[in-house]
Amino acid sequence: MKAYKVIKSNIHRKGLCATRNIKKGKRIIEYRGKKITHKQADEDTRYGYDITYLFTLDKKYLLDGDFEFNKARLINHSCNPNCEVLDKSKSKIWITAIRNIKKNEELSYDYGFSFDCNYKDHICKCGSKNCVGFIVREGSRWRLKKQNNI
Ligand SMILES: C[S@@+](CC[C@H](N)C(=O)[O-])C[C@H]1O[C@@H](n2cnc3c(N)ncnc32)[C@H](O)[C@@H]1O
Ligand SMILES: [Zn+2]
Repeated sequence: MKAYKVIKSNIHRKGLCATRNIKKGKRIIEYRGKKITHKQADEDTRYGYDITYLFTLDKKYLLDGDFEFNKARLINHSCNPNCEVLDKSKSKIWITAIRNIKKNEELSYDYGFSFDCNYKDHICKCGSKNCVGFIVREGSRWRLKKQNNI
């Protein structure tokens, strides 16, 4: 049995949750898609929608993960995630547990969005105690806290 299943998420539409207890460090699911360049993404209107299944690999490439076979595309962002993405620049990308995860817990990772003038376009509904209200990578959240005096 797979360690994850598709659920109706409390965060946003669909998500994935654990089907059993998962130990810290365990690889859970591979993020699979089609490698494209940032230039291709910018030029193709199909990639311009609100819900994004684009996964940044590096400065040049993204993975278009919008394929039914790629269940990892359904994992939502959290400000207090239980997973991380390892080896982004390698050919295989694994979503891995960063702590012990309980059966039925929703899987999440930090989307890693940078803090820029568009951060307000990505409201975060992760519901964590430490949620900063927007989908912004951990390393940049202090900027939001400072700005909002949180
Ligand atoms: C890759 S999809 C995740 C799967 C999505 N829930 C679905 O059903 O298709 C990414 C999109 O999910 C939504 N999303 C993910 N995490 C979120 C969060 N913490 N708060 C609000 N929306 C979120 C945003 O619309 C984002 O563009
Ligand atoms: Zn949040």
